[in-house]
Amino acid sequence: MATLNPDCNYLGVEIRRPLVTSADREALASDHGNVRVLFCNANISLASWMRALPVDRLHRVSIQFPDPWFKRRHRKRRVLQPNLLLAIAAALQPGRELFLQSDVLAVIEPMVTLTELSDCFTRPVGDTQPWRSSNPLPVPTERERYVLEKQLPVYRVLYRRNQRSLPNESLLESRWQQIDNPAEPIHAGA
Ligand SMILES: C[S@@+](CC[C@H](N)C(=O)[O-])C[C@H]1O[C@@H](n2cnc3c(N)ncnc32)[C@H](O)[C@@H]1O
Repeated sequence: MATLNPDCNYLGVEIRRPLVTSADREALASDHGNVRVLFCNANISLASWMRALPVDRLHRVSIQFPDPWFKRRHRKRRVLQPNLLLAIAAALQPGRELFLQSDVLAVIEPMVTLTELSDCFTRPVGDTQPWRSSNPLPVPTERERYVLEKQLPVYRVLYRRNQRSLPNESLLESRWQQIDNPAEPIHAGA
């Protein structure tokens, strides 16, 4: 992507240090000096990094094939949480993009539900629903290549930041909790 688009800068984030070291070594040796890979726990640092960006510096955020966390008690480890989504929405000017893809429905569906709950993003007119038929980016990720080689499905959604203002964070968080983590039903009986 960085080679194809020398006028844009690309930043990759990753939590496993050995991967960061090797990927950033390649990035630093690349042709145009427009790509870096940084160590980051996306659940901890990314929202504050987004908030520190100058206006309209960020043109697209891609969350591609994030690790699956299926157990209820591991929900907080999922990458896209209300706090990060709002930081992304605040950093993207209207028209700028948020791209999500995964090969696991149970991973992408909560990301889509949360994104649409925020009301800050709109799908491009004409995009097929519920999933885009093609990748809008010209380069597949490693995981994407693996999944496509196995002829498994890939679920993709492209959003554009709309004009709406950000929702209140605690309100979004509590509405999200009601949807994502409703209270267990109580079964009373003798
Ligand atoms: C399934 S891989 C997909 C990698 C790449 N996006 C692709 O599509 O080929 C998920 C990656 O996310 C990284 N990761 C998991 N949790 C993370 C976090 N909290 N912050 C940053 N990276 C994380 C993992 O170490 C792993 O490299």
